Amino acid sequence: MTIIASNWKMNLDRQSAEQLLVEMASCPVGDKVKRIVFPSFTLLDLARATREQIGLANHLALGGQDCHAAANGAHTGDVSAAMLIESGCQWVLVGHSERRQNHKESSATIAAKLEMAQAEGLSVMLCVGENLAERQSGHAEATVTAMLSGSLPHKVDGAKLAIAYEPVWAIGTGMTATPENVMEMHQAIHKYLKNSGLNDVPVLYGGSVNPENANTLLALEQVDGVLVGGASLDAKSINAITLAAEI
Ligand code: 13P
Repeated sequence: MTIIASNWKMNLDRQSAEQLLVEMASCPVGDKVKRIVFPSFTLLDLARATREQIGLANHLALGGQDCHAAANGAHTGDVSAAMLIESGCQWVLVGHSERRQNHKESSATIAAKLEMAQAEGLSVMLCVGENLAERQSGHAEATVTAMLSGSLPHKVDGAKLAIAYEPVWAIGTGMTATPENVMEMHQAIHKYLKNSGLNDVPVLYGGSVNPENANTLLALEQVDGVLVGGASLDAKSINAITLAAEI
């Protein structure tokens, strides 16, 4: 199974989101590929209604881009895991580098979110990745391993988990990690998961994935899918990336 996940981030209005989903529906996808879309919270209802109207409900899962670690309460501006489920989500992203950086989220906070999301019934895509300084100083693997160890709670359900390896320096920069970088890091992540008793957890790559590099990335044995930002906003590009997973 290969996962093609779209992280729309803080993009798209209702009309363009609907149009994008309709065009995504025109892409023939076999049983080998699972698609997930992570829209902004305000587009979730539209995404749910649209994918039902166009017959995508069984072929395209929905996810929130974040959730709070608490079940409910005085958390202005936040969204709970239960609210995401009520909005039609099966998934949630936690630990994206944009949240770690811009919202100062610690691995401990992310672990608490992950635990709450799984307890409420969501599958969780946990993002990890080193920054440029960490890579250049030879600490990429140690950084990512420490992020995994800090962001995975003691109680974790491996059947409701995916990891997205997203090197920060490759996000939105057009710089993709080399296949060797990706292989090395994915191998290290798979090894860490196995040693933690978490078998068969998919590990996705994210960071400037586009139709030109998708074939090479998805052909790597250790890569179980991709998490796509910029290119996921364009129907032709995300459909081409999806088709690369069919090969
Ligand atoms: P880009 O594909 O725009 O580099 O973004 C990657 C990402 O952050 C997906 O979560």
